[in-house]
Amino acid sequence: MKSDKYMRGVTVPRYGGPDVLQVVDVPRSQPGPGEVLVRVAWGAVNAADWRLMRADPWMVRLAFGLRRPRFAALGIAMSGTVVESNADGFSPGDGVAGDLSASGCGAFAEYVCVGAPVLARVPDGVELDIAATLPLAGTTALQAIRDQGHLRDGQNLMVIGASVAVGSAAVELGRNMGANVWAVTGTAGRPLVERLGGTHVVDRQVTDVTTDAAVPPGSFDLIIDTGSYRSIFDYKPLLAPEGIYVHVGGSMKRLAQTAICGGLRSRGGGPRWKTFTATADAGDLEKLLAMADANRISPPIGARIPLSDAAEALGMAEEHRVPGRVLIDME
Ligand SMILES: NC(=O)c1ccc[n+]([C@@H]2O[C@H](COP(=O)([O-])OP(=O)(O)OC[C@H]3O[C@@H](n4cnc5c(N)ncnc54)[C@H](OP(=O)(O)O)[C@@H]3O)[C@@H](O)[C@H]2O)c1
Repeated sequence: MKSDKYMRGVTVPRYGGPDVLQVVDVPRSQPGPGEVLVRVAWGAVNAADWRLMRADPWMVRLAFGLRRPRFAALGIAMSGTVVESNADGFSPGDGVAGDLSASGCGAFAEYVCVGAPVLARVPDGVELDIAATLPLAGTTALQAIRDQGHLRDGQNLMVIGASVAVGSAAVELGRNMGANVWAVTGTAGRPLVERLGGTHVVDRQVTDVTTDAAVPPGSFDLIIDTGSYRSIFDYKPLLAPEGIYVHVGGSMKRLAQTAICGGLRSRGGGPRWKTFTATADAGDLEKLLAMADANRISPPIGARIPLSDAAEALGMAEEHRVPGRVLIDME
């Protein structure tokens, strides 16, 4: 069945755990006007992929399909090489990376057709595996720190959930912006986070960051929370008088707490609590790729899994079995 009309890709025949995933031949589309055909090299697993796979939260079904997702293949973050281009600015042989969340997914497949505005050119000095880690996770961290948190040089930043996708990027970006970074992680993630350059690393399995005497209360200008595993207001004693807590991810209950209760408590002066939805911005992705090219960031890769074992890759990422990013190798 293999021809240039087909490619191998990870499909989701019904919502569920990693065992529902199938790696099968799926139709390979041709690039239309303004589109680029990319030979995918690496797909990076993000929480959004397993949330989509499981339809968690349920509202995923309203956007992607009630009984099963409508897209041809799973996957949001990818890097690869242009093989055919109908768009200005991209030529065969160019290395590219992109966030496909707003353009029908399909990162976990051998090829993908995407509109040029989604793509950023990968500089020659950046390996494609590193490039794949930056869409979604990197851009979310950048937008959380820069646009929501307004972090400035010399300020105190706390990153909760520092060893994986959004969190590890936030640690590296905070360090680059000149912040004093306090990175909260589990015992398994600690060595990796220390390598990222967190100024202080707190092991959440050894100590409670909200009461630990070594963590200065009332001093954090920005807290980035990637999981919201406890009430957002537990962190109030840590926030500086004008500090900002940015809730990136977690359960719907916690998101509602931040949006409603956090919003109400943020009225007037004092600390603020926010949540936000990141946008797939190729300009931000270019900025991150330039930082990687200048060796200012070096996203941690925890595992490289072949496409045929995509279910293992999704399970590994969902259960946080390895610190660092889980990549799917399409080659
Ligand atoms: N708002 C947006 O636009 C946006 C964009 C992208 C992602 N998200 C959401 O942001 C969240 C993070 O995404 P992600 O891709 O970085 O993946 P993730 O793998 O879910 O990261 C969450 C991290 O939380 C930490 N953690 C796990 N158990 C914990 C516990 N019991 N207590 C405290 N921390 C714990 C872990 O890091 P350590 O082991 O290092 O502690 C874990 O890696 C997800 O919920 C995702 O859906 C939101």
